[in-house]
Amino acid sequence: MNEAFFDKKEYKPLDRVDGRLKVTGAARYSAEYPMPNMAYAVLVGSRIAKGTIKSIDSKAAERAPGVLAVISHLNAIKVPGYQSKGEHPSEPPTNGQPLRVFFDNKIYSNDQPVVAVVATSLEKAQYGASLVKIQYNKEQHQTNLEANAGNAVLPAAAKKNPKSPTADYDRGQKDAFDSAPVKIEAEYVLPTEVHNPMELQAITAHWEADDRLMVYDKVQGTKMAQKNFAKEWNIPEQNVKVISTFVGGAFGNGLHNWPHETAAIIAAKQVKRPVKLVLTREQMFTMVGYRPRTWQKIQMGATKDGKLVAINHQSIGQTSSYEEFTESTLQQTRMMYASPSISTRYRILPLDVATPIWMRGPGEATGAFGLESAMDEMAHAIGMDPVDFRLANYTESDPDKNVPWSTKYMRECYEEGKKRIGWENRKLKPGEVRDGEWLVGYGMGTGTFGANRNSATVHAELDKEGNLVMHCAITDIGPGTGTAMVQIASNTTGLPTEKITFHLGSSEFPNAGLQGGSSTVNSVGPAVQAACNALKGQLITMAAGKGNAAFTSAKPDDLMFDKAEIQLGGKSLKTTIADLFKQNNIEKIETTNESKPDENRNKYSMYAFSMHFAKVHVHPFTGQVRVMKIVCCADAGTIVSPKTAASQMIGGATGGIGMALTEDAVMDHRFGRYVTKDLADYHMPVHADVPDIDVYFVDKPDLLADPVGSKGLGEIAIIGVAPAIANAVFNATGKRIRELPITPDKLI
Ligand code: MOS
Repeated sequence: MNEAFFDKKEYKPLDRVDGRLKVTGAARYSAEYPMPNMAYAVLVGSRIAKGTIKSIDSKAAERAPGVLAVISHLNAIKVPGYQSKGEHPSEPPTNGQPLRVFFDNKIYSNDQPVVAVVATSLEKAQYGASLVKIQYNKEQHQTNLEANAGNAVLPAAAKKNPKSPTADYDRGQKDAFDSAPVKIEAEYVLPTEVHNPMELQAITAHWEADDRLMVYDKVQGTKMAQKNFAKEWNIPEQNVKVISTFVGGAFGNGLHNWPHETAAIIAAKQVKRPVKLVLTREQMFTMVGYRPRTWQKIQMGATKDGKLVAINHQSIGQTSSYEEFTESTLQQTRMMYASPSISTRYRILPLDVATPIWMRGPGEATGAFGLESAMDEMAHAIGMDPVDFRLANYTESDPDKNVPWSTKYMRECYEEGKKRIGWENRKLKPGEVRDGEWLVGYGMGTGTFGANRNSATVHAELDKEGNLVMHCAITDIGPGTGTAMVQIASNTTGLPTEKITFHLGSSEFPNAGLQGGSSTVNSVGPAVQAACNALKGQLITMAAGKGNAAFTSAKPDDLMFDKAEIQLGGKSLKTTIADLFKQNNIEKIETTNESKPDENRNKYSMYAFSMHFAKVHVHPFTGQVRVMKIVCCADAGTIVSPKTAASQMIGGATGGIGMALTEDAVMDHRFGRYVTKDLADYHMPVHADVPDIDVYFVDKPDLLADPVGSKGLGEIAIIGVAPAIANAVFNATGKRIRELPITPDKLI
């Protein structure tokens, strides 16, 4: 990170407001809340991938010291919200329903939770769990995507809505590819990837009364979880409290409620004590979703001088047999380049596996590996520089929706990226550049993600000392949401950041959507702004009411604080918040404000864009790939909090390195079971794998997207990184690797 980047800003980059709590261990995560009379649950998973449970022998476990209950479908209390009609999950109404834990004897995937052992300590629960003996009726399972590709289907969501990003899409001429002057055709495979956040998925569930549930839970949406649990237990939403103050990393797997959460809630009801349940690292691979293995095929046609004429892009992603999971894998293909003819075909394949879930840059990161690799293949085929090829097909408006972009500043990203990576050292012909023994290659990949916005509400309180305290139900899964919101409030009011507090992560606080889809700053930021402006408006009314003429025609925008002193139009009024409060005989003022998407969303197409450049070294004898440098350029609108935003980009690029080079959840299809189920076998990039990552932000507001001008950047941080690295490996070696990860065996 370049220091000059920070110097440009009118404000100093803020350290994380909760940084001290996190590094000192004072921050409490879902499994760290002590409760009187706590019990501990451990889940036992199925050893088969498909079939039924024949018998469960729990006698030894029940007799083991400290064991309070052994819970399975045989004795679990009924969950009122579970739908019970339909013999098979693929039959309505159970189709689309998340796994109903302990509901019946059916097995849908390997390591599906089938028994919970609850005991007075974790160790006693673990020992009890080791004593449970389960017998199964095994049925033939199918877990192999490629072997079953013929059974892939159009998602139900696409059938219902032909405008869905997963529906079949055609523009231009159907057979344009066939007659294209230059054609390439290739298949790409992305393996199953697992989130592996540092914090294991955890819940502490407590029934405060028969119909009052309180959970400390690792989620990305406290309101989502509140709604889901209320529905599941058929109790009013206000009887469910979900606390998720700190989340130790979540990249999408907290966007869904999972069987282990319901298992803990069942257990708490059954043993009448608070129950803590923490998944093991192995269970993180099987019980809380993953990025689905996806096969893609691309046909791309272009003229000899580099104008695209057609792209046909199809993909098949896996899902479970009981729940339809889809993602917008092919969306980028529809809108990124000015090809007159484009067809996309998205299919899903139900297999005997657990349900996948969104994982950072969901869909687009997968699709971009295909699209951006194919763009590189085409540039090579016509002998054109890959950046020039993209510029030759630049879109000035959205060719998919036929409306203008709200903002798009990719040209300067391309220029800046080229400069920073040293693109002039790249040779068109692969394998031409060496550094000692090592082959040197340069590559790039583009990313995009919708600039999403949801409605959000913030409550704000200002006291006479000038302390501003805000509340909102949004979670912070790691990007530094509290820090960004404090910065926005400080920018809007002029109050020093140390006088501002932002409380988040509780369903008791005012409404917010999920922390997902790069939407938090775009959604909650405007609500913070609105609340701050409302407070300023109240002060103006108060002052004007006391006959202060300067205030009579003032607007919230005119008023700023300099510490606690009030300024209008940049001029000090020699009066403080305390003075005003005293005149009006009040201690504090407060407000609750909602901010929501407006009609601009229909008139413009709103996307954030990124561009990633990679320089790699490849050893010609060992096939080792070393990423030497990555440059991430982003057009994400206003950068509210430069330090945490840069961290987001660095984290995304690191995820991209894993995607490109190391991450692969390998399944043994004989058993339908993963064999790489820990951090020793499932390789994530460590410090030694991660080079200097240089981040460049365009930092121009998109005020059509939202009043903060932000477009979001959590997803675009990773989208396009893997193809940038794969393309750099090709440039270094002349070897095109179309199945990730690029392990040394594929290069020698
Ligand atoms: Mo993100 S995949 O929306 O957590």
